[in-house]
Amino acid sequence: MESEKRGPSRRGFLTGGLAMGGAAMAAGAAQAGEKAILELPPWTTQLGDGVDARPYGTPSQFEAHVRRRNVAWLTADPVSSVNFTPLHELDGIITPNGLCFERHHSGIAEVDPAEWRLMIHGLVEKPLVFTLEDLKRFPRVNRIHFLECAANSGMEWRGAQLNGCQFTHGMIHNVMYTGVPLKALLDEAGLKPNAKWLLPEGGDAAAMTRSVPLFKALDDCLIAFKMNGEALRPEQGYPARLVVPGWEGNMWVKWIRRIEVGDQPWHHREETSKYTDLMANGQARRFTWEMDVKSVITNPSPQAPIVHGPGPLVVTGVAWSGRGTVREVHVTTDGGNNWHQARIDGPSLDRSMHRFYYEFDWDGKPLLLQSRAVDSEGMVQPTKDRLREVRGVNSIYHNNGIQTWHVRENGEAENVEVS
Ligand code: MTE
Ligand code: CO
Repeated sequence: MESEKRGPSRRGFLTGGLAMGGAAMAAGAAQAGEKAILELPPWTTQLGDGVDARPYGTPSQFEAHVRRRNVAWLTADPVSSVNFTPLHELDGIITPNGLCFERHHSGIAEVDPAEWRLMIHGLVEKPLVFTLEDLKRFPRVNRIHFLECAANSGMEWRGAQLNGCQFTHGMIHNVMYTGVPLKALLDEAGLKPNAKWLLPEGGDAAAMTRSVPLFKALDDCLIAFKMNGEALRPEQGYPARLVVPGWEGNMWVKWIRRIEVGDQPWHHREETSKYTDLMANGQARRFTWEMDVKSVITNPSPQAPIVHGPGPLVVTGVAWSGRGTVREVHVTTDGGNNWHQARIDGPSLDRSMHRFYYEFDWDGKPLLLQSRAVDSEGMVQPTKDRLREVRGVNSIYHNNGIQTWHVRENGEAENVEVS
């Protein structure tokens, strides 16, 4: 695994700065004689780049550490692989396009939009083939939704394993999609009375397929062609993907090329051998589509240690539910003995990520930090022990258990479990 060791050295630097000043002071206070204030830096004494230097903007060179990362041992082959969203470096609720985790079964398809087609066939009155331009003549909508892979936190079923929320919880992103309701395209083709299921198929080498029940497709599925206002990235299914709000990421077929309409599910690989939940008794649950209520503290966390001493501390994280909005988030600093109400800030949207904050005066003692979300259906995020009582430890999917970070006196954090 690639990891960062920025925290402790940064902390050392801060402490050093204070010692030089010769006086203890509150975090963030100005310091008389500060060199960075008295001496003009090069960016103040020289002209900067003009507007023609960066026709497509990229982040500051000082943010180069903010990037998707993979875990080498998780997959034998980078083509059928996954990387993770750096949740600990983000704030608010929107994931920037270049940081959305990627999961490909057969690599990234580089689709020429002029050659792209979407076919709707099977139990329809009129089989149709749409171009991208055809899609853009239907009324379109904008929706902010999270996409979480069913395998997010999947490595943690048997115990704490990966040291960082990027790795334990980073198979999620939350962007605004612009697209056409799938219902509009199905209406255009005309559904036959016995139509009950859809089989969307991807145009990549995996030709990924999933059975989607018709009620979901008619309710809120989209064929999306924009994310956060610009064209989908190739990694995310350019030029068009299926959006299945609140349901497991595997169903959000990328590079979508056809949708077959049928009267029963197909029982393909991705809904039998994969993406089923193997229980303790050896039986498997199928079609567990919804992503249940879940949350994680992103700061502090193993990749984002506390870099200041005792005093005001901002704890923040994200929460989401595939069944609606997040009504409440609770935070504990003592492993679950006392829970405090966190503050949700920013938009609270259906099947979208929520941002929460819990601010308190840290006494510099070790912490056992956890967050627990409650959704609009009243579902409460379970402890990992409770989850294992019901589900056993065979599964790798749908782990929405409460995450614990052990924060030490020096501000460093690690992934642990409490029982
Ligand atoms: N669609 C196609 N065509 N091929 C794929 O490999 N991976 C699926 C899904 N759709 C996949 C696909 C899985 S398992 C997930 S979790 C999401 O896409 C990941 O979407 P992302 O790469 O935009 O994060
Ligand atoms: Co997935």
